[in-house]
Amino acid sequence: MSLTSTASAPASRQADPATIAAPVTGTCPHSLVRAVRAEVRRGLGWQCTADRVATALHASLPDPAAILPASLRRGDPAGYQSHLLYAEPDGTFSVSAMVWMPGQQTMIHDHVAWCVTGVLQGREYEEIFALADDGRTLSLAARNVNPAGAVSGFAPPGDIHRVRNTGDTVAISMHVYGADISRLGNSIRREYALPVRG
Ligand SMILES: [Fe+2]
Repeated sequence: MSLTSTASAPASRQADPATIAAPVTGTCPHSLVRAVRAEVRRGLGWQCTADRVATALHASLPDPAAILPASLRRGDPAGYQSHLLYAEPDGTFSVSAMVWMPGQQTMIHDHVAWCVTGVLQGREYEEIFALADDGRTLSLAARNVNPAGAVSGFAPPGDIHRVRNTGDTVAISMHVYGADISRLGNSIRREYALPVRG
């Protein structure tokens, strides 16, 4: 999948010559950073952390105009875009905004750590898959239509999914990852180019 990142690390961070940090191209509300940091520092398990961060995000979903300039809220016909909003200096979490034009979608994928998503504008269609025991096929386990205001948190294993903008307007969502996507580029663990059965 072509997760396009436009992000950079905060200027205060020291550049590691071995890993080029992506630039920050938007704004993450300080209150949300503080709330996520407090939950991460509890040191709970991934699913519990994801659930608690989801509660924090749901309580303070920002207006898209507060986190991205208008030029980045239009979307890109070349594919959906991921814009880095914040990376915690110790690498424990990061925040991005994703912008999808109608019809744009991810590959089927899972993540290296917990993830929380909140839809700010438009709607996103999410499919969740189960991997067959032989690892050769997928089956559709669940599907959800997530309108603006919907928040969900999930953690590996069992987080194989695909997201698509099935609406007729640009969709924008906020994503909090239990990983430093400013260094990793994204938090994808694996993409699944497998047939979907049933
Ligand atoms: Fe994902």
